[in-house]
Amino acid sequence: MKLHFNPVSPFVRKALVVAHERGLAAQITLLPRAMSPVTPDEELNRDNPLGKIPCLITDDGLVLYDSRVICAYLDSLGQGPELIPAGGSERWAALRREALGDGIMDAGVGMRYETVLRPEGLRWADWIAGQKGKIARALDALEAEAQEVAPRLHIGTIAIGCALGYLDFRFADDRWRERRPRLAEWFATFAERASMRATAPA
Ligand code: BEZ
Repeated sequence: MKLHFNPVSPFVRKALVVAHERGLAAQITLLPRAMSPVTPDEELNRDNPLGKIPCLITDDGLVLYDSRVICAYLDSLGQGPELIPAGGSERWAALRREALGDGIMDAGVGMRYETVLRPEGLRWADWIAGQKGKIARALDALEAEAQEVAPRLHIGTIAIGCALGYLDFRFADDRWRERRPRLAEWFATFAERASMRATAPA
């Protein structure tokens, strides 16, 4: 398998954590990409017309994106308990938490682009405040349910772990741990997993 990838993308990290947890990481060749919304990568665009990472090319020649589809594919291979529960309330809780983690990543990456890529005179403070509000509310919701998040490894906890890792990497000054001790405690343990350590942004 080949993966269009950038080591700091939290969405890429989510796919790689799933690959590690399923024992598949060694089967993936990484194709480094340094694109942004204003500096497209033609090779990536040929595989994913949206120009987004992660994008996986399977050994059968299937091209898969986005991270949710890639994670579902990787979960269908590999060993051990599946990371996307097959049914029941556990499935919907895991998928909802994946959406929450992905939403934090979306808001964080959007803020990063707005503050680094967009020319200074065109930056929109209200939009940035709106993204910060989404992240703060999502973190508060996770703090409230931290005890339920903790017990089992699944796609939801992986997405949340990668989202928190991205906040630490790009927005450390925002100090999300303040007022969220249970979430901070959960993440301190989760971040020590071999899959998380192997994929931490440099
Ligand atoms: C970043 O620099 O934060 C970033 C780069 C690629 C994808 C997502 C985020």
